[in-house]
Amino acid sequence: MTPPLDIHTVTSRTVSHSWDPNNLSTSPTATFNSPPSSWGGALAHRGAPKQLKPFNTQDIKILLLENVNTTGQDILRGQGYQVEALKTSLPEDQLIVKIRDVHVIGIRSKTKLNQRVLKEAKNLLVVGCFCIGTNQVDLEYAARHGIAVFNSPFANSRSVAELVVAEIIALARQLGDRSSEMHRGTWNKVSAKCWEIRGKTLGIVGYGHIGSQLSVLAEAMGMNVIYYDVVTLMALGTCRQVPTLDNLLEEADFVTLHVPDLPETRGMISTTQFEQMKHGSYLINASRGTVVDIPALVKAMRSGKVAGAALDVYPNEPDANGDYFTNNLINWVEDLRSLNNIILTPHIGGSTEEAQRAIGIEVADALVRYINQGITLGSVNLPEAQLRSLTLDEPNHARVIYIHRNVPGVLRKVNEILGGHNVDKQISDSKGDVAYLMADISNVRYEEIKEFTENLEALSSCIMTRVLY
Ligand SMILES: NC(=O)c1ccc[n+]([C@@H]2O[C@H](COP(=O)([O-])OP(=O)(O)OC[C@H]3O[C@@H](n4cnc5c(N)ncnc54)[C@H](O)[C@@H]3O)[C@@H](O)[C@H]2O)c1
Repeated sequence: MTPPLDIHTVTSRTVSHSWDPNNLSTSPTATFNSPPSSWGGALAHRGAPKQLKPFNTQDIKILLLENVNTTGQDILRGQGYQVEALKTSLPEDQLIVKIRDVHVIGIRSKTKLNQRVLKEAKNLLVVGCFCIGTNQVDLEYAARHGIAVFNSPFANSRSVAELVVAEIIALARQLGDRSSEMHRGTWNKVSAKCWEIRGKTLGIVGYGHIGSQLSVLAEAMGMNVIYYDVVTLMALGTCRQVPTLDNLLEEADFVTLHVPDLPETRGMISTTQFEQMKHGSYLINASRGTVVDIPALVKAMRSGKVAGAALDVYPNEPDANGDYFTNNLINWVEDLRSLNNIILTPHIGGSTEEAQRAIGIEVADALVRYINQGITLGSVNLPEAQLRSLTLDEPNHARVIYIHRNVPGVLRKVNEILGGHNVDKQISDSKGDVAYLMADISNVRYEEIKEFTENLEALSSCIMTRVLY
């Protein structure tokens, strides 16, 4: 292997690139390009996807903080990247020192990647949030500097759906109250107002990743399931979509909420909706705390209109574990705590070992796809773009990625630069001020790559240029 040569992928960023100018068909990371031997001979390789690599993979430095699940660490190490994994987050000043050196950072919810930190991240290509939320990252600043951010929004759907199943039965049988009584030494064997769930109607508001999984589980337990969603969606199993929220509230014995936090969903369940619900029905909210008007719920439960509720999310949630669920958090907390048959959990819907493992895999895969192929599918801050893979039949092809300011005339200038080459395929998309272009160029020589990279970087619209091969 020849010593690595430098190709500047970002103005002022230097990352080493192991391009061999004498033999364009020899990837410096050939071991990663080789399909398993069981594929049987060179002919079988023809047409197979070629795994692109940006530079010598040994040069990709990754810092993982906050004890990212080993599933994710293994995938990244398996690529040959240099991975440093720490169990905790870092104080901001230490983070600033560390982040200067790395191409990739993986975090969970405690590490704040604000402008001050990101400004120092001169080599950073991508951030992996090994969690659901991304509000710990300044997404706009990252996008304006060509840094992609990925997360894992749906890896814990099953965990939430299972929690809701447990809560449906627990509320119908008043399990929380019976258990607390026993913990206090009280034997209270009752059957009044305790029900089987078989034959009862579950109303799911929001039939997305969680809502739809829940419908299958609930039907398996003998429930009738109806759902309301702003989008017309095909039912799984034998459940049925109802046209309005009113219809759902009037018909359901159990109402469970699975909508996102949007202006339209804030306070979506309030006094009027509680009045529409059946007398003695139940409410479950494991979506977002803003969706339910909690003082209205307290009133509906005190009147007996709502026979039980389970809340996993709140309009205001503490940052850390501890004795924070008091009126100091929000003034109705003590009212909630005083109610019977209400299950209060600290936003644990998605908190399972399985979900953490799935998050590790999903985010690490997204990082590898982005580092090796430039694919931005699932990015929360860059336009989502993908091109079909280059194949092993195309050894001398290169993929050019040009992240740029979304201003008029850029494509014409880029095409003038790339125009002398055979551009096999190209895609461009924009999101706000930032646009993302990928082009696959065939039969390209090292000198040519160097030249057009420099020309692209000289354009005033350039945020970042990367070349993968
Ligand atoms: N408790 C937890 O730990 C936990 C974990 C994961 C997700 N969540 C939350 O659960 C909720 C659902 O997550 P998901 O992954 O199923 O989301 P999703 O995006 O897959 O599904 C949401 C569904 O709600 C529908 N919807 C949007 N606005 C609506 C409206 N006004 N009325 C009716 N339907 C509407 C959408 O069309 C979509 O089908 C989100 O709020 C998410 O943040 C909570």
